[in-house]
Amino acid sequence: MTTPTIELKPSSRPLSDTERDAILASPGFGRHFTDHMVTVKWTEGRGWHDGQLVPYGPLSLDPATNVLHYAQEIFEGLKAYRQPDGTVATFRPDMNAKRFQHSAWRLGMPELPVETFIEACDALVQQDKDWVPAHGGEESLYLRPFMIATEVGLGVKPANEYLFVVIASPAGAYFPGGVKPVSIWLSEDRVRAVPGGVGDAKTGGNYAASLLAQAEAAAKGCDQVAYLDAVEHKWVEELGGMNLYFVYGNKIVTPTLTGSLLAGVTRDSLLQVARDLGYEAEETRVSIDQWQADTESGALTEVFACGTAAVITPVGTVKRATGEWKQSGGEAGEVTMRLRNALLDVQRGTAEDRHGWMHKL
Ligand code: COI
Repeated sequence: MTTPTIELKPSSRPLSDTERDAILASPGFGRHFTDHMVTVKWTEGRGWHDGQLVPYGPLSLDPATNVLHYAQEIFEGLKAYRQPDGTVATFRPDMNAKRFQHSAWRLGMPELPVETFIEACDALVQQDKDWVPAHGGEESLYLRPFMIATEVGLGVKPANEYLFVVIASPAGAYFPGGVKPVSIWLSEDRVRAVPGGVGDAKTGGNYAASLLAQAEAAAKGCDQVAYLDAVEHKWVEELGGMNLYFVYGNKIVTPTLTGSLLAGVTRDSLLQVARDLGYEAEETRVSIDQWQADTESGALTEVFACGTAAVITPVGTVKRATGEWKQSGGEAGEVTMRLRNALLDVQRGTAEDRHGWMHKL
């Protein structure tokens, strides 16, 4: 595998400092993009080449470009945080890089070297560091690395050319309401992923496949949809864009990675953060009936969703075809918020980085 270096192109500054500061004051999620992007090409027989940091702008694609027809595409999401001393650090970029390699393998794409993935993210953050929001708040700089098949042609086969791109977007709370409990619709018939499929790859098709159920959830007055396994329609998997955690007093439990769930970086980090705080943390299968029964008996005290974009988001209401219930009285649970703050403290550089997760630039 070749490891290209990222060549710096002359800087461009389309937005003034005042315009940028106005965006940073209230960035929302995924609405604004920084001044630059990184691109790296892959060609069969040549490998990775032409790594460049260029002004942010449109990609020009032939209408017959493979990705537009057969969705050979993967992506990642990670964040850069302003530290107390004004420097910037990203959270566990190596883990995103490895998951990106796994996704690439599953989609029949070339695997980008971990060091190139990290170098590309570093180059972009370094160049656009003024876009990293101030220390201490909910805001951070969200990085979106992705790769698309760029071979032109309609044959169904792994492409012989690819483009890896990293863009960055200042991000506040993922949900418009900020950190407040969300409501969940339990989809008992539509599934997100199947055993042997691509559920554990971060590919756009999984998100496209979730949109109808997401629209149905919205029609039921819910913010998000939770999926069950595709075989028994019984085991809780994930929300589509986030993993789930169940709090049983001093124990937190998350669904086992069966191959049809995405192995979330936040999910993995929380298993460790919870243990560091003295909680028990376990991966196990949780059935939908157990979820409802354990809530009704009081054993299941809190439920929360987690992901890079949304960090930790409390679940307040759950609806299924046969009824609905509240989690922790519809409020954000105490354990949920303690874990949230503990993780954010590490990311913001105000707590000790015991596991070497922060990558300083
Ligand atoms: C993330 O949390 O980074 C995600 O990828 C979820 C969503 C924004 C697609």
